[in-house]
Amino acid sequence: MCGIIGYIGFRSAKEVLLKSLKRLEYRGYDSAGVAIVDGKINVAKKKGYIDSLEFDFDGTLGIGHTRWATHGVPEDRNAHPFLDCKGEIAIVHNGIIENYMELKEKLIKEGHKFKSDTDSEVIAHLIEEHYNGNLKEAFFKAIKELKGSFAIVAISKNERKIMAAKKDSPLVIGVGDHENFVASDIPAFLEYTNRVIVMRDGEISELTEDFVHFYDFNGNEINKEVQIVEWSIEDAEKSGYEHFMLKEIYEQPFALDSTLHSLLSRNDMNFDFGRVTIVACGTSYHAGLVGKYIIEELLRIPVEVYYASEYRYRPNVADNSLAIFITQSGETADTIAAARKAKASGNETLAITNVVGSSITNYVDKVIYTNAGPEIGVAATKTFTAQLMALEYFAIKAGESMGKLSASHARDLLNSLRKVPMYVENTLNLNGIIKKEAEKIHKRKDMFFIARGMNYPIALEGALKMKEISYIHAEGYPAGELKHGPLALIEEDIPVIALVPEDITYDKMLSNIKEVSARNAYVIGVSSSEDVGKYVDTLIKVPSTEPHLSPFVNVVVLQLLAYHTAKLLGREIDKPRNLAKSVTVE
Ligand code: M6R
Repeated sequence: MCGIIGYIGFRSAKEVLLKSLKRLEYRGYDSAGVAIVDGKINVAKKKGYIDSLEFDFDGTLGIGHTRWATHGVPEDRNAHPFLDCKGEIAIVHNGIIENYMELKEKLIKEGHKFKSDTDSEVIAHLIEEHYNGNLKEAFFKAIKELKGSFAIVAISKNERKIMAAKKDSPLVIGVGDHENFVASDIPAFLEYTNRVIVMRDGEISELTEDFVHFYDFNGNEINKEVQIVEWSIEDAEKSGYEHFMLKEIYEQPFALDSTLHSLLSRNDMNFDFGRVTIVACGTSYHAGLVGKYIIEELLRIPVEVYYASEYRYRPNVADNSLAIFITQSGETADTIAAARKAKASGNETLAITNVVGSSITNYVDKVIYTNAGPEIGVAATKTFTAQLMALEYFAIKAGESMGKLSASHARDLLNSLRKVPMYVENTLNLNGIIKKEAEKIHKRKDMFFIARGMNYPIALEGALKMKEISYIHAEGYPAGELKHGPLALIEEDIPVIALVPEDITYDKMLSNIKEVSARNAYVIGVSSSEDVGKYVDTLIKVPSTEPHLSPFVNVVVLQLLAYHTAKLLGREIDKPRNLAKSVTVE
C-alpha cells in the first residue's frame, strides 16, 4: 500500500507534491519520489521518509509517491515514479500487479530494460509499448492488460494531462479552478480544494487543468458528481500536539459525539437476521470482539468474530447471518476480500467504516459511517472507540427493530450512549497518572494485559497498542486463562495491567490479581472502584460508567499508557517500523 498524488495546474508542482506526500506518508514511508514535467520528465526518488527527498527542478505538472514495500526491498531503485525506456512516460502505482512477471517477460523480449524489482515498473513499459503520441489511448490499452489491484497515475512529457485508473485501490479527484488533483486520499489536496470526486473500481480519469473526464475501462464516458468535504486540513494536522496519535486520543470525546449524532439522524436501521458474523483485522477486530458481547447481551443471538485473513478459509455458508465488516480505512484488502466472499455466499452485508466512499462501501449492502474525522497515526485510537459507538448503536437499533428490546429500554440505552463523550473526557484527565506509570514500566521487556468479559478484547487492544508503538512484547489474556499456562511467565516486577470494571467480572478479577501479585508482578489496576487499590501496586481510578460502557474508558487509559511508554523509549510513534496505516495487500 502506498500514497500517490498527481497535480496539473498553475502552482509549483514541487511544493504541491511534497506537501501532499507528507499528508499521505501514513500510507507507507519506505521510500518517496516525484516526477515533474518541464520540457522533459525530471525524477527524484529515495529510500526513506519524504524529508530526505531533495531536488531543485520544478514545473506545474507532476506526480508523486510514498511507498510501503511489497515487491522489492525498500531501496532507491525500487522507489516510484517509474519511467519507460525513453524517459517520456512516468507512472506511480498503489496495489499489486498480479500478472507482472508474465508481462515483464514479454516486454523484455520486445527489448524493454527494467531497472527495479517491482511489479509496478511494468506499467510504464506497457504504456510505452502502446504509445503512439497519445497518452490516453496507450493508457486505456495498458490498463486492459493488467490483473490485480491498482491505483495508477501516469503522465507523459509530450502532453499536458494526467491519466488515472482505479481497481481495488483508492483514488480521489480534487477539483480546483484551473488546476486539478488526483490522490489516494482527500487530505493530500484538501489545502487547495474541498471539491472531491471519488473514483470507483473500473474507472479511468483524464485530467487537464481545465477539466476532468471519467470513463469506464472500455472508454465509455461516465458522469460523476462533485462532493463537498466539510472537514478542514487542520482536522488532518497535529494542531499543536507532538504526535497525531496523542491528538487523536484527545479528539475522542468529539469523535464519539459526532459519530453518535450522525447515527441518530439515520432512519434506515431496520434489520432482521438470525445470527451475526463479524469480520475485521487488528484493532477493528478487537472492536468486533466487544461487539460480540454487546450484541449477544442485547439480542440473545449468536455472534461469531473472524480475523478477515482467516475468514477466507471458512466454507461458503448462507445461514441467515448478517455479516458485518469493520474497517476504519475501508481499504484493508483482507476485509474487502472477506466482504466479497460473504456476499457471494448470499449473506446480507454491512460495513462499519470511517472513510466515506472507501472501497469496502462498494461490496456491502449497507454502510454505517463512524464520523471520527481523519486518523493519521498508524495506531488506531479514535476510530476504535467510534467503532464501539457504532456497534452499541447498531445493537440497540437492531434489537428494537427485531422486537428484542422494548422502546423504553432502547431509549435508556441510547441515552446512556450520550454520556460516553463525557466519560472519555474525564478519563483523559488521568493523563498525568498514566504517564507516571509509563515511567515505571517503560524499561520492561514483557507485559501482560488481563481482563474478563467485554473488557477482554480491551486487554488485547491494550497489548496491541503497546507492541505496535513501543515494540515491547505484550500479551493480552482472558484473566481466567493465566493459570492454564502463561502464569509460568510471571516473575518479579513484570507489569500486569488488570482491567477491573464493577460488573460480573469484578470478584474473579480480584482473584486473578492475587495470583499474579503472589508471584511479585507489578500490578496496575484500572477500575472505578477505590477498593481495588488494596490489591494492586497502583490504581488508575477511571470514571464509573454503566457496566456495558466500561470498555470506552478502559481503552483510553491503555492508549495513553502505550503512547507515553513509546515516547519515553523515543519511538516513531505515528509511523512505527514495518507498519502502515492501511494494509491493502492480503
Ligand atoms: O483500516 P482497518 O480498520 O481495516 O485496519 C485494520 C488494522 O490494520 C488496524 O486496526 C491496525 O491493527 C492498527 N494499526 C492498530 O493500531
